[in-house]
Amino acid sequence: MENKYEVVKALLKEQLLSSTIKPGEKLPSIRAASELWACSKNTAIRAYQELEKEHLIYSVPKSGYYAVVRPVLGKQAATEWIDFSSASPDADVMPYKDFQHCLNRAIELYEDHLFTYSDPQGFFTLRRALEKHLAHSQIFASPSQICVVSGAQQALHLLASMPFPNGKGAVLVEQPTFQGMLRSLDLMGVTTLGIERTMDGIDLDELERHFRNNHIKFFYTVPRFHNPLGACYTAEQKMRIAKLAEKYDVYIVEDDYLADMDTDDKADPIYSYDQAGKVIYVKSFSKIMLPGLRLASVVLPTSLMETFRLFKASSDSSTSALSQAALELYLNCGMYDHHASLVRERYRLRMQQLADCSERLLPQKMDFRIGNGGIFARMSIPDEIDLHDLITALHLQQVRVTSTEQNYLRTFRRNYGLRISIIQTDFAKIERGIQIVANTVSGLLEQQKKSRLQVIDWI
Ligand SMILES: Cc1ncc(COP(=O)(O)O)c(C=O)c1O
Repeated sequence: MENKYEVVKALLKEQLLSSTIKPGEKLPSIRAASELWACSKNTAIRAYQELEKEHLIYSVPKSGYYAVVRPVLGKQAATEWIDFSSASPDADVMPYKDFQHCLNRAIELYEDHLFTYSDPQGFFTLRRALEKHLAHSQIFASPSQICVVSGAQQALHLLASMPFPNGKGAVLVEQPTFQGMLRSLDLMGVTTLGIERTMDGIDLDELERHFRNNHIKFFYTVPRFHNPLGACYTAEQKMRIAKLAEKYDVYIVEDDYLADMDTDDKADPIYSYDQAGKVIYVKSFSKIMLPGLRLASVVLPTSLMETFRLFKASSDSSTSALSQAALELYLNCGMYDHHASLVRERYRLRMQQLADCSERLLPQKMDFRIGNGGIFARMSIPDEIDLHDLITALHLQQVRVTSTEQNYLRTFRRNYGLRISIIQTDFAKIERGIQIVANTVSGLLEQQKKSRLQVIDWI
C-alpha cells in the first residue's frame, strides 16, 4: 500500500469488521484520527470517505462518522443447525454487492422519479426489459401485457380476489400446493376445490370434470419444481391443461416461481401452449435474487389487465420504484443471467446430493422421488410413525423440517409427509441431515415394534 490513507483505511476496516469499533459507535473525529495515525487531516478525511463508499461507516453532518449497523447473520447458529425447512435463498449466494451497485446507479440515473408515485403497472422501461427477459422462457408478451407486482404473493392474492371475465367464482388448486395461495384463498373466503397432484402429475380426466361441472374461475398450478413436491409436468400434460382451459373457459394461473432454475431449455411453460388467452403467467424474482425486494412480474390476457391494474393500484399504488429501477439495470447489464446460472448450478448439485444421500441412507419404508432440479422434495414417512413426533425428534437433533400439512386444504384427503428444502444447506449438511432423518425414522419404527410386541404379550 503506497498511500497513507490506504493504511489508515485498512486499519479502520479491520476494526470495523472485527467489531472492535462496534456497530453504531462514533469514530474518532478527523482531528483525533490524524493525531492517532500521525497523518494529515486530508488523509484521515480520504480514509473515512473511502469507508463510507464501502458502506462501512456513515457521516452525520456536524456530528461525525459512525459505524454502520450491519445485520447479524447468525453464522454461528446457522452452522450448527441443518435447515431443511427454509424457502428463502441462501445468504451466501445473494447478490448483495451487485444489486447495491444497481441501486446506486438507479438513483443516479432516475433521480427524483424514484421517490414519487409511479405507474401501478410498473415502470415502462422495466416492462420493456422484462419483455426481453421473458422471451427466453418462451413468454412472448408486450410491455402492455406485463404488470410488475410486489412479489408473486401479491399477484396471487389479487387474482384470488378480483372478478374474472368468465363470471365464475371457485378456484381449483393442486393438492398439495403452495401454502401462501391457500392462505389468501382462505382469508378471502373463496370457494376452493382440490385435485391431487403427485410426482406423475394430475388425473386430466378429473381436471376436465372439475372444469366442466364446478364453476371454476381459475386453476392455480405450479407446473415447474412444484412446492412442496418438486415435480414438473411433462410437455404433453401442459399442452392438455391449456386445451382444457380453452374448451371450458377456465383461466390458468401459472406460478413459475423457479423458472430460471431449470436446466432443460425445452421445458416451456403452459403459457406457451395457450392459444386462447386463458393463461396468466406469474414469475417471481425472489428465489434467484433477493426476496426482500418484493419483485415479480405477471403476464395477463388483455381482457384481465384493466381489472388487475385497478386491484393492484388499490392494494399498494405501485411496487417500490427503487427496487424496480434497480431490477431493470440488473437485467439489462447481464448481471441477472450470470447470477441465475451460478445459483441454478449450485442448487442443481445440492438436489443431486439429496437424491444420492436419500437413496443410500433412508430406510425402505420411506418413499421419495427427487426431481431433477428445483429446491424441494417431498418424503413420505411410514404409517406407523407420527409425523409430529418425527419432526420434534429431528428438532431436538438440530434438524429443521416442515410437514406438508400446511400445503393441504382442510377438506382434502390428507397424505402428509416431510418437505425437504436444500436452499439453506450444503453437501455436508445434506449428508448429515439425511443420515439423522434415517436414524430417527428407524429408531421410531423400532420403538413402535417393541410397544406392539408388549401389547401382544400382555393380551
Ligand atoms: C410456489 C411459490 N409461489 C410464490 C411464492 C412467493 O414468491 P414471492 O416472494 O415473489 O412473493 C413462493 C415462495 O416461496 C412459492 O413457493
